[in-house]
Amino acid sequence: MSYMNISLTINGLHVDVPEGTSILEAAQTYGINIPTLCHLDGLSSYGACRLCIVEIGPAENPKVVSSCTYRCEEGMEVRTHTKRILDTRKIILELMVCSTPGSKTIQDLASAHGVIQTRFRPENEDCILCGLCVRMCAEQMMAGAIAFAGRGPDRHITTPFDELSELCRHCGGCMHVCPACMYRCMGPKADTTLCSACLNLSPSCVEVYDQQQCWMPPSCGTCVRPEGNYLPATGLIIEEEKATE
Ligand code: SF4
Ligand code: SF4
Ligand code: FES
Repeated sequence: MSYMNISLTINGLHVDVPEGTSILEAAQTYGINIPTLCHLDGLSSYGACRLCIVEIGPAENPKVVSSCTYRCEEGMEVRTHTKRILDTRKIILELMVCSTPGSKTIQDLASAHGVIQTRFRPENEDCILCGLCVRMCAEQMMAGAIAFAGRGPDRHITTPFDELSELCRHCGGCMHVCPACMYRCMGPKADTTLCSACLNLSPSCVEVYDQQQCWMPPSCGTCVRPEGNYLPATGLIIEEEKATE
């Protein structure tokens, strides 16, 4: 079986990928890091968290899409780290930290993206409705023991008729992939909405330079950048959006 190749640009870099490749997969193939929460290799894409958003189309009239669900198109222009995208990801993470402050995965992502404040009311939920557990159960464990139920604010994950499911294999796969419960935040201020002291020993300034978050002695050198907003983790230089006249 032969696959047709699609040519596009990601952050100005010319890339070729097989037809049917998602923007996220194309970016990962070329070493460009796009953050994700509801995507896992081996499971179908669901597009729930919106953290993987990117801009497509001409810079003056861009469209924002989730890169895990959007397929590459011939001649497409993709920008993964514009200021607008980074700002939007920060707001998404701020909301997630407020809804599920006990998740170390979300706290770490928020820290890595320079979230230093939360303006929303903490909810202390234990689920961000990413659907990873449902897909893990159905697609990898072939059990189908859990599913979404309810609508709007009542939407939640449950078993059929909210009863103990005989389909469950007790494999733990759902918990293993859950970003809300796989690690609990154990930081010194874990009871507050924003931990800001994650124990992963990964300085947030490696991802996004932020003077206010730097806890290293002066001039550790990790975040030293050439001109422009260089992101060492991605190898990208962010182009500042031109001010509208
Ligand atoms: S523990 Fe049960 S519900 Fe969870 S993935 Fe396994 S079979 Fe599905
Ligand atoms: S329980 Fe965990 S994996 Fe399942 S939808 Fe909620 S946050 Fe996602
Ligand atoms: S990773 Fe793409 S929407 Fe969640």
